[in-house]
Amino acid sequence: MRKWLQKQRAKSQLRKAFRAAGLYVTYRSGERELMVFPKIHSVTSDDGRIEYVFTLIDGMEPKEVFKKEYVFQQVFGQHVQLDGDYKRFTLTVYRYGLPNELPYSFEKIKPHLEGLALPIICGMDRYGQYIAYDAIQEPHLLIAGESGSGKSTQLRSILTTLIQYYDDTKLHIYCADLKMSEFHIFKRCRQVKAVCTTPGQLKKMLSLIQIEMNRRSQLLNEKEVAHINDLPESERPPIILVCIDELVVVKDEKDIMDTLVQLVAIGRALNIIVILSMQRPSHDILDTKIRANLTVRMGFRTADLSNAKIIGTPGAEKISIEQRGRFLLKREGLMELQAPFLSLERAKKILERYKVVDQKDVLPGGLEAASPQGNVSEEIILGVLDDATDQT
Ligand SMILES: Nc1ncnc2c1ncn2[C@@H]1O[C@H](COP(=O)(O)OP(=O)(O)O)[C@@H](O)[C@H]1O
Ligand SMILES: [Mg+2]
Repeated sequence: MRKWLQKQRAKSQLRKAFRAAGLYVTYRSGERELMVFPKIHSVTSDDGRIEYVFTLIDGMEPKEVFKKEYVFQQVFGQHVQLDGDYKRFTLTVYRYGLPNELPYSFEKIKPHLEGLALPIICGMDRYGQYIAYDAIQEPHLLIAGESGSGKSTQLRSILTTLIQYYDDTKLHIYCADLKMSEFHIFKRCRQVKAVCTTPGQLKKMLSLIQIEMNRRSQLLNEKEVAHINDLPESERPPIILVCIDELVVVKDEKDIMDTLVQLVAIGRALNIIVILSMQRPSHDILDTKIRANLTVRMGFRTADLSNAKIIGTPGAEKISIEQRGRFLLKREGLMELQAPFLSLERAKKILERYKVVDQKDVLPGGLEAASPQGNVSEEIILGVLDDATDQT
């Protein structure tokens, strides 16, 4: 009975919104004028939200519903979401909203990483839940959005989280930062095998990863298994994470792009996972062969809908310029999240504990043996040993 009453109350609130928004048709019946509202099919609710499903009266303009989104906000509060097509609509009213800023806390994030082979921390949803996913299950990530929207910051928390989570027996990170030189904070971290800042260094780094790809493919052949994870745990090489910020800088470098095509195509079975970031992944910048294999997308703020669509996260154009770190996560569906905020200074502090004193310890084990030179030259370490490595 109480439930029934609640439902009636919820329905009458929605009708109030329809009325205020002018979403009705009128009929004359003698002296009286009757208002007919869209039909409400269901009202369901749980702890965090109420969901309404309604359909328009034939002849009503569906665009009007979206245009009047602000009326729904005025009636139900700021945190509403409207989805629909030409007739059927869903209005979701969230009890909580997304936080405006989410200070980074590894302690709070850590419990949400458990059980994930390569956990990628994304951020917090409307229910106050941290969202992370397993990049071994859903390989290769694209982070996109306009300048200043929060891409590099997101990469920083993803990598800093992984470095605190796994040691170098489990994970090797190879990263390239082609614009801002923000990744220097990762240098000399035990798990970080390369930090590149120039196309030349990146080329070398990728050619080494290519060698490792071949080595791992051969290993699978020999052992007659389809995936690295089918090997006994003791024989599994570490997961390799390749992370490139602002890929646009090298869009015309054919070698680099060719290797990336291969990497994203076969890396999955080899536990070699790629994260790419760029402002605008249009087809002239990012080969569709690469794009198709970037299964997960994070769409930070974009200038307009067409840019948001290119990323695969329509709606990202609605994120305001003040909402830094806000983005749409695309996996199966779309989900709006707030990214944790980790400043460069704090990251630097956190990472101090993971730095090696003896530089020999940071040599890339797997790559070392396979390097064309047969020995470990400075070139191979690529930026881990200071910056004296760009010789191309
Ligand atoms: N998750 C976040 N929460 C709050 N502020 C953020 C967040 N991410 C970025 N910012 C702010 O926005 C600025 C630009 O972020 P940055 O990651 O450098 O953007 P991009 O790499 O997309 O150009 C940062 O200096 C910071 O002040
Ligand atoms: Mg950046």
